[in-house]
Amino acid sequence: MTAPAARPWWRDAVVYQVYVRSFADGLPAGSDAGDGVGDLPGITARLPYLRDLGVDALWITPFYTSPQKDHGYDVADYTDVDPLFGTLADVDLLLETAHGLGLRVIVDLVPNHTSDQHAWFQAALAAAPGSPERARYIFRPGRGEDGAEPPNNWDSIFGGPAWTRVPDGAWYLHLFDTSQPDLDWRNPEVGDMFEDVLRNWLDRGVDGFRVDVAHGLYKEATLRDQKRPEQPAKLAESMVERVLNDEPMWDQPEVHEVYRRWRRVLDSYPGDRMAVAEAWTQTAESMAMFIRPDELHQAFNFGWLGTPWSARAFARVINDSIAAVAAAASAPTWVLSNHDVERHPTRYGGGPVGLARARAATLTMLALPGSAYLYQGEELGLEQVDVPPEARQDPSWFRTGQPGRDGCRVPLPWSGDAPPYGFGGPPGSQPWIPQPADWESLSVAAQLGDPDSTLAFYQHALAARRAVFAGADEATTAIADDDLLVVLRGDVAIVLNAGDEPAPLPAGEVLISSGPLPGETLPPDTAVWIR
Ligand code: NOJ
Repeated sequence: MTAPAARPWWRDAVVYQVYVRSFADGLPAGSDAGDGVGDLPGITARLPYLRDLGVDALWITPFYTSPQKDHGYDVADYTDVDPLFGTLADVDLLLETAHGLGLRVIVDLVPNHTSDQHAWFQAALAAAPGSPERARYIFRPGRGEDGAEPPNNWDSIFGGPAWTRVPDGAWYLHLFDTSQPDLDWRNPEVGDMFEDVLRNWLDRGVDGFRVDVAHGLYKEATLRDQKRPEQPAKLAESMVERVLNDEPMWDQPEVHEVYRRWRRVLDSYPGDRMAVAEAWTQTAESMAMFIRPDELHQAFNFGWLGTPWSARAFARVINDSIAAVAAAASAPTWVLSNHDVERHPTRYGGGPVGLARARAATLTMLALPGSAYLYQGEELGLEQVDVPPEARQDPSWFRTGQPGRDGCRVPLPWSGDAPPYGFGGPPGSQPWIPQPADWESLSVAAQLGDPDSTLAFYQHALAARRAVFAGADEATTAIADDDLLVVLRGDVAIVLNAGDEPAPLPAGEVLISSGPLPGETLPPDTAVWIR
């Protein structure tokens, strides 16, 4: 075991999320050319782009063997690569190339559920109720006459009941799609299997894991009904204001023992191997439990992502997040977009205002202590796309009839004036989710030569972050002065104007701004770093 470096790389890394299906389609003609689905060779070919962008690491969404019912979050074999995305040799080449460019690689781990095509679930279906094969999942008899009602009142995150009945009358739990049966983590075989999976990828050289649904593995043992309020809880302005719901399916105390075990595994490998939790916990305090010194290293801070456009709300979430992780002796994380949420320029109103706000929020985020996660395409200023119903693929669309998440998953435009914009596949073809006709000016090639482009802004901001804040742990405080957010970090002030009127530009040296600063003013929807 090698002693960890004094300051592990992940503490203040900028991590770029690659949604593998939509980043770049690199497999050569004759294999999947024309399938319009991104893959591992596509990522490897574009790694120099990420190095030039200035990020420290990439997180790659699941590329394992999968029927793709939830686009890879339904894993049929945790240690192999889906032919759609390449081979194990492609993983090795990707890791080697990334490391050669100074980039770390985080892979996704999906421990809450498997695919219904996983060998374990197929064996469970073939076996009898009460068998050891069924005991790896959560099978229960139904309620009511002939057990025709689900065992409890839980809903799937993707809509409809969280239970599906099999022909012999038993029901199995799936907190997501019917094709994603939940594992029973109270069965020791499950923990042993995932330790093997961790070791498999660590042996191959990955630098870390993003842990899917990290708060979900254990359910309250009785599987009792969820108590539901008469009135749905009002949306809170910051994470500390969340109204606590009764959640017997999430965030149970037993889950922390899993992460203590994983931490021992990660620490037994050389280098700073890490894990980041996707844990949609209800409070900052419960999030901090996942990053205690003997558990995972980071947790996504969804409080920041969910904050409305308000200086007061931003200040609160910044201070609360920093305080919560300090209590756990970890470092905060910040994220504005990912493959599950509406892209943030659209969330902030869309159009020029949405983009200006997105750039201002990004510049603020990049000045905060800790680590920042970027989602592919945000550096191009991409907005949420209104994907036509016939092209929608998200399982939640099929279960609820709501638009779902396809609009933030449209394949990236790299070059050219028409789909597929250099993404891959034959000229004139559309990728797996169609690209809009008006993305020419948003492509990487179009933006690279333009100093005012959003891509140039991201490159500049990431370089400035390295130059100004590298490795620094200064105390950071946020305050809201009417509509101005002011964050003080060491000798730098980050000021964001969240109001409708221009504000006087504070005195000092301007290090970088998210937009023009006409006549010594800080316009609305603009942020600046000042020394
Ligand atoms: C969270 C992932 O980010 C999402 O895309 C997926 O659908 C669910 N977990 C289920 O694995």
